[in-house]
Amino acid sequence: MADYASARERLIVGLDVPEVDIARAMVRTLGDAVVFYKIGLELVMRGGLGLVQELAGQGLKVFLDMKLLDIPNTVEKAVRNAAVSGATFLTVHATDRKTLTAAAQGAAGSKLKLLGVTVLTSIDANDLAEQGITRSPQDLVLDRARLAHACGLHGIVASGHEAKRVRSTLGPGLAIVTPGIRFPDNATGDQARVTTPQSAIADGADYLVVARPIIADPSPRAAALRFVEAIASATA
Ligand code: C5P
Repeated sequence: MADYASARERLIVGLDVPEVDIARAMVRTLGDAVVFYKIGLELVMRGGLGLVQELAGQGLKVFLDMKLLDIPNTVEKAVRNAAVSGATFLTVHATDRKTLTAAAQGAAGSKLKLLGVTVLTSIDANDLAEQGITRSPQDLVLDRARLAHACGLHGIVASGHEAKRVRSTLGPGLAIVTPGIRFPDNATGDQARVTTPQSAIADGADYLVVARPIIADPSPRAAALRFVEAIASATA
């Protein structure tokens, strides 16, 4: 289950920047406004894995967003190696039982918590139809959340649109991590299923993942604090 004591601990800032030095500078700029960071594919492709250990060594929490999907042997061993990086969360696509079971085996005995990616927040019903999937994004998220839960994952990644249904169906035992968070005055970008921080929290999200509305803001620290305040106001 989710473990956080304050609104600040529920905000995860995505370090979606091209270089480790830029990421380090962003962490310095954000200062004590942010205690949880997400390192994803963009940064990992340029030395970002080392930053996981560096930030964890500074007492910060790190979400390693690798969205793994491969044959079970590869997934299990990748997760086992990731478990020694100091990351708190690691993502794996929650598309099938074999992948999720292998991931859970790889994380067994470690402190690493696995999150199943249900349906990317950039994907809508038309994109699913193109893949031959006729289920709605909401139904598919619930199916995959159920599977992730059954396979022993700590939580899932889902948009605010599905958080309420996942929470009411699966109860409090599964952490819900929600990207696609925007204030009404933020640009949506490539996200299709966006929600405000207040509604995502009210609907049951445990953690909010925010990147561009903070890191591309002219005042990133003030932008981060605005999200922290919104989380606090939704829980007050
Ligand atoms: O800039 P923005 O706030 O849209 O960034 C959202 C972050 O969350 C990105 O790093 C993206 O890769 C990640 N993410 C997502 N949807 C998912 C899983 C992760 O947007 N389903």
